[in-house]
Amino acid sequence: MAHMHYINADRLRDAVRLLVRGFGSEPREVELVTENLVQANLTGHDSHGVGMLPRYIDAFLEGGLLPNAHIVTRMDSGTMVSLDGQAGFGQVIGHETMELGIARAKEHGSCIVALANSHHLCRIGAWAEMAVAQNLISVHFVNVISRPIVAPWGGGDARFGTNPFSVGIPVPGQEPILLDFATSVIAQGKARVAHNKREKLPPGQMIDHLGQPTIDPVYGVHPPLGALRTFGEHKGFGMALVCELLGGALAGGMAAHGPADGKRRVLNGMLTMIFDPAKLADGSVFEQEMTGFLEWVKSSPPQTGFDHVRVAGEPEREYRAKRLAEGVPVDENTWQEMLTAARLLGVDPDAVQKLAGL
Ligand SMILES: NC(=O)c1ccc[n+]([C@@H]2O[C@H](COP(=O)([O-])OP(=O)(O)OC[C@H]3O[C@@H](n4cnc5c(N)ncnc54)[C@H](O)[C@@H]3O)[C@@H](O)[C@H]2O)c1
Repeated sequence: MAHMHYINADRLRDAVRLLVRGFGSEPREVELVTENLVQANLTGHDSHGVGMLPRYIDAFLEGGLLPNAHIVTRMDSGTMVSLDGQAGFGQVIGHETMELGIARAKEHGSCIVALANSHHLCRIGAWAEMAVAQNLISVHFVNVISRPIVAPWGGGDARFGTNPFSVGIPVPGQEPILLDFATSVIAQGKARVAHNKREKLPPGQMIDHLGQPTIDPVYGVHPPLGALRTFGEHKGFGMALVCELLGGALAGGMAAHGPADGKRRVLNGMLTMIFDPAKLADGSVFEQEMTGFLEWVKSSPPQTGFDHVRVAGEPEREYRAKRLAEGVPVDENTWQEMLTAARLLGVDPDAVQKLAGL
């Protein structure tokens, strides 16, 4: 098991800011990228946290990630908008997409936004959080254009990406519901994190290069590559398929249909539906039924091994509270990868290390 650093969230922000400036990003981009990555770590999703930076730097140096890009409108009929993310930082493109969709949903009651060609949109729940903060519901179907990494149900090799799905629902007077997951059993970055920590995966998550079940995460990181499996067997596969068709073919105009092209960039397509629950349902009935249901499911007696029933969004809030208090865990291998990547950007790794307090 690799040594673990516990880095104060503000110090981690300072270190990451310095690194992101190395892309030549304008100040707003530096802030959006830094905050989004640190929030991924704070919410427990280390697979989508600061450890993504080396991958972003590889993509940037190859020309597949374009700093300081912004959304461009392709089609606009008021409540349906089609955007191009121009391979810009997903943290900026996702933010701008949601700002536009939220403004339209406030004006018209609903809006469907199709986003093509964004670089990695990272934690999709971050976009649902923007909608629920404005008392709006959002639903996101996302595809991933990168090396195929997930096998179809019944298939023996990788054919598509980890295609995430997210729904945010504001709950009056309570914390929102934030459902946000990859349609693979685990997100791809979780194989990288496990490999960096020298840990094995639980059974049932991966197949090796021969299509056989394996618990070694190396098959998700270095050749010969295997594949992740979809969650929920054929049901998760069905959901991944729908994410590819709506987030990719429809919104992104780009779906997976070939083997890896060797490029380091990760593009996402995302179909987002944003709507105002107050314009669709009687507010008091919705609130009463929703809170009644949440109370009912949460009062189920815990099974062995569980302390209580949690609902979507709750584990992330628990992680955030714990990590704000105790620091963000970053394993030594991931940290060294970040320092090596800093050098590639011309950023002084000692300065990054110092800002992090290490
Ligand atoms: N941009 C991309 O290309 C891409 C691709 C794949 C995944 N992702 C992101 O990776 C992140 C991690 O995905 P994941 O599939 O590993 O997430 P995960 O398996 O940790 O599942 C997270 C979801 O399950 C809920 N949850 C977790 N534990 C729970 C419990 N005990 N009881 C009830 N609900 C619980 C969480 O609140 C959350 O909604 C997500 O933010 C996702 O958007 C992004």
